[in-house]
Amino acid sequence: MASERTLAIIKPDAVAKGVFGEAVLAIEKAGLKVVAVKRITLTRRQAEGFYAVHRERPFYADLTAFMSSGPSIVMVLEGDGAIGRWRELLGATDPAQAAPGTLRQRFGENIQNNGFHGSDAPDTAAFEIGFMFSGLELA
Ligand code: RTP
Ligand code: MG
Repeated sequence: MASERTLAIIKPDAVAKGVFGEAVLAIEKAGLKVVAVKRITLTRRQAEGFYAVHRERPFYADLTAFMSSGPSIVMVLEGDGAIGRWRELLGATDPAQAAPGTLRQRFGENIQNNGFHGSDAPDTAAFEIGFMFSGLELA
């Protein structure tokens, strides 16, 4: 499997719960590496830009308010099949539907405050990594 990079976010609800360490543990146990990391509070505008693909969806206003409500921890993960592997560790979008042992099942609150984000394809990963990190931070 080819080595890939993906963008991971510990969303404000999960940062508030103090589960950054649990996320990193799951990442490292899965054989992925954290190659960049920072803690940031997104502005509403930044959250809107990040989730622009969802701007027509009914949940866009609530989602971008939530994502700018407090600090997030953003990371670039690297490894074989990193995009799919990280999404497997997350589980389904709705924590109530997420498989047992997944991060969203363990720590998510509801379909919006679901604790974590993961890029869903190589093109979105490239956009999202470039949105959150500069070239220097990824060197
Ligand atoms: P993400 O992009 O955050 O990794 O999540 P995802 O691919 O599993 O889900 P996506 O469809 O891309 O939705 C992005 C985020 O929007 C919120 N959401 N709220 N209220 C709702 O029905 C609803 N649906 C989605 C979640 O925070 C979801 O992760
Ligand atoms: Mg998504």
